[in-house]
Amino acid sequence: MAAVLDVVRAFFAPTPTFVIDVETPADVVAREALLDRAMGPERKMKSSEKIRQGRLPAVGLALVARDRSGRVIGTVRLWNVEAGVSREGQTIDALLLGPLAVDPSHEGKGIGSALMRAALIEARKREHGAVLLVGDAAYYERFGFFAEKAQHLVMPGPFSRERFLALELKAGWLDGAAGMIVASGRKLSQPGRRRAA
Ligand SMILES: CC(C)(COP(=O)(O)OP(=O)(O)OC[C@H]1O[C@@H](n2cnc3c(N)ncnc32)[C@H](O)[C@@H]1OP(=O)(O)O)[C@@H](O)C(=O)NCCC(=O)NCCS
Repeated sequence: MAAVLDVVRAFFAPTPTFVIDVETPADVVAREALLDRAMGPERKMKSSEKIRQGRLPAVGLALVARDRSGRVIGTVRLWNVEAGVSREGQTIDALLLGPLAVDPSHEGKGIGSALMRAALIEARKREHGAVLLVGDAAYYERFGFFAEKAQHLVMPGPFSRERFLALELKAGWLDGAAGMIVASGRKLSQPGRRRAA
């Protein structure tokens, strides 16, 4: 009986209007165009951009949302950083999230939330300890991000203290964390790139 009900439910379930997927190199042009539409060209002036420049995102943590035809309608990426040092003077590995953006014509359909949840599940699965970001607390608090855990950390450039938020994936990971956020991820120009003769 349960199996029959499952079939009936599946028959009536609406086809999802979007899926969350891993970003591929073929998505880069569409992702950049989406970011320009959603955030404008001044997005490249942000302090977070300094951390991203010349780096690759953390392994497995560049995600896109696709519509039914496979078009990119949302993006989120996370980056390896050092989040200052602990009280014992040890550097603290963490992730910096951003940018998160959804195509303006698809806002309010839960795509941003789905990207956030998928990214945080994947970050946990990969055993990261904490995620930081700069964004609107009114949006990110629903995913567990608060300013308190980032209160002794600074971005390498201008930022608003009340928008600098953190989420611990492992309890106590950011205890005592103080200092500057520094990029620590893989560099873009890796050996094996295609070179002219
Ligand atoms: C912010 C953004 C990613 C949200 O994506 P989305 O797919 O529309 O979000 P969801 O559908 O999952 O959630 C919508 C909810 O978030 C709220 N919301 C959206 N942006 C918000 C913001 N900046 N501050 C507070 N709440 C916000 C909406 O009011 C809505 O609330 P409701 O559920 O009570 O109706 C998207 O609006 C966007 O790309 N904005 C431009 C880029 C940007 O600013 N990115 C960084 C965010 S600080």
